[in-house]
Amino acid sequence: NTYAVIMAGGIGSRFWPISRTNNPKQFHDVLGVGESMLQLTANRLTDICPPENIYVVTNKDYRDLVAEQLPTLSDDQILCEPIGRNTAPAIAYACFKIANLNPEANIVVMPSDHVVLKEEAFKKTVKQALEASEHADKLITLGIKPSRPDTGYGYIQFIEKGTEELKKVKTFTEKPNLEIAKMFLESGDFVWNAGIFIWNAKSILKAFKTYLSEMAEIFEDGSGYFNTQHEKEFIAKAYSHCRNISIDYGIMEKADNVYVLLSDFGWSDLGTWNSLYSIGHKDEAGNVVDGEVLLYDAKNNIIKTPKERLVVIQGLENFIVAEFDNVLMICRKDEEQRVKEFVSDVKAKK
Ligand code: GDD
Ligand code: MG
Repeated sequence: NTYAVIMAGGIGSRFWPISRTNNPKQFHDVLGVGESMLQLTANRLTDICPPENIYVVTNKDYRDLVAEQLPTLSDDQILCEPIGRNTAPAIAYACFKIANLNPEANIVVMPSDHVVLKEEAFKKTVKQALEASEHADKLITLGIKPSRPDTGYGYIQFIEKGTEELKKVKTFTEKPNLEIAKMFLESGDFVWNAGIFIWNAKSILKAFKTYLSEMAEIFEDGSGYFNTQHEKEFIAKAYSHCRNISIDYGIMEKADNVYVLLSDFGWSDLGTWNSLYSIGHKDEAGNVVDGEVLLYDAKNNIIKTPKERLVVIQGLENFIVAEFDNVLMICRKDEEQRVKEFVSDVKAKK
């Protein structure tokens, strides 16, 4: 009864210019290991769930990329969204469809763009969570020990009781501001939400009915269409009525049956160039390099350029050098939050 849903519809705009609207980061070999983030994610699911129970939810524009990168998936295992409406509708689509096939389903939902350094620990944790959710009305998320006051994450405060690793959640705060994130970090009471969710189909459907009732109604109407040739038409209409909201704001912050499993599997969100720099292999001068690059007096840079281009760099320190397709970006590492600004300026120019 185990199913997996991979969310692969985000556009990963902070990873520009590698991540592009028509080819976002989950489809790239960001780590330089020969496989895309999506492929690494799917591989990680072997011995967690049978291959025929893996579903990928993505934008219709990325359907071919998914099919190409994961050729073992059947057509029916790639769920195409007509428009991006954030993670709540993506999860609703997948979970209502799976529940329609198998009401006893037990589901793990995960992002397609995370790094996991300790694969075995990851599998063990997910299996443990799946055991805990199979027969219980629990919305389980995996918690990671925070290392900095990052405002891009959800923060979870849990009720400390005994030595059990699965803890009842007291508060879930999605993307706090910096001041609050600092407070959370200093208090030592909080963990990050890894964005990997485990629940049985009945529990998540119930949560949609309770906290996002309009969305639940929309997808409940699909019961006669899911897993038929009319699913696509139904979904096109359903999405036109869906609001844009993440599962974190829509359900996880509000529900009273949220549990967190404290985890340690070398997790990294890989949301930004600096996060790639921090996990990357550094040469003696602290450079992380993926490409054909000759360096002279260069220190602490992150460089990712196409293999077919020879790049020569002298005297550069603390920069991001990234080239993909027709864009080359050279940006100070400590100014990377400006990438979003570059993207919107480039779009405006077109
Ligand atoms: N199918 C689909 N459709 N997938 C989507 C959509 C969408 O509209 N929007 C985002 N995704 C995918 C992304 O590709 C990513 O794999 C995953 O869903 C999570 O979305 P993000 O947009 O990356 O979320 P986030 O990073 O801001 O926040 C979430 O993850 C953090 C950990 O990385 C939250 O769950 C936070 O609480 C959490 O800390
Ligand atoms: Mg993310």
